[in-house]
Amino acid sequence: MKIAISGKGGVGKTTIMALLANEYNKAGKDVLIIDADPSPHMAETLGVRNIEKIKPIAEMTKLLVERSGKVEGSPFYNMNPQVNDLLHDFMISHEGIKLMVLGAIQTGDKGCACPENNVLRRMLTKLLLSPEQVVLLDMEAGVEHLGRGTIAGIDQLLIVVIPSRSSIRTALKIKKLAEDVKIPRIDFVGNLIKDASDREFLSEGLGTTPIVFFTDSQAIRKAERAETPLTHIPVPAEDAPHLLMEALSR
Ligand SMILES: Nc1ncnc2c1ncn2[C@@H]1O[C@H](COP(=O)(O)OP(=O)(O)O)[C@@H](O)[C@H]1O
Ligand SMILES: [Mg+2]
Repeated sequence: MKIAISGKGGVGKTTIMALLANEYNKAGKDVLIIDADPSPHMAETLGVRNIEKIKPIAEMTKLLVERSGKVEGSPFYNMNPQVNDLLHDFMISHEGIKLMVLGAIQTGDKGCACPENNVLRRMLTKLLLSPEQVVLLDMEAGVEHLGRGTIAGIDQLLIVVIPSRSSIRTALKIKKLAEDVKIPRIDFVGNLIKDASDREFLSEGLGTTPIVFFTDSQAIRKAERAETPLTHIPVPAEDAPHLLMEALSR
């Protein structure tokens, strides 16, 4: 299963993806997170200490081209089986969760991340997964990646939305684009929920009820400030991460 997460900047995509990864990991799944945000912060969120050890996928571009055969008469490359082994060089494993990072941390404007995105698209469309494997794709804010077709190989898209008008607007725009690129399943996930009126506001604005609501959580806020891995915080009473995992398999 390949699941991507999207939504306006700062709505909690990385947070929710880390909690979901933890949930799948506890359930015995083989979890790989791909951090495709140009300002990646999944590693910190999971409590990975040796971040500089992570080789970004962007560096794989050359190797991939070297190792993949060009398809006759077409501009495309075929990914051969060796590529699967190659992937391991770009993966770190932390407390049972595997992590890959698309690009190095970038400062200032860098222009198009096209080669990285081509690699990512190729990986997502060519990676064959067993039922025990879950690939989670953490993305940049906004909707450009949908336009570029980077997430063509995705089975499910989660759109995180918080109780604000602008967040709903972005979420609806993302949904429309995701439908255009024919992602088989698209769900909204509510975050930073304080009360019933927040839930109602979201359901009304989206025209549908999110599959799960994450509460505005003191524990998450504290963990972020103390740099405590999100996977170590106590399970909240309503256990939204578990509910999300269950909802996704329905
Ligand atoms: N349910 C929540 N309760 C409290 N704080 C949250 C919650 N979800 C996210 N946050 C905080 O909001 C900030 C942005 O979250 P993050 O996951 O980094 O957003 P994104 O990946 O969408 O940019 C972080 O400081 C995170 O700790
Ligand atoms: Mg993020």
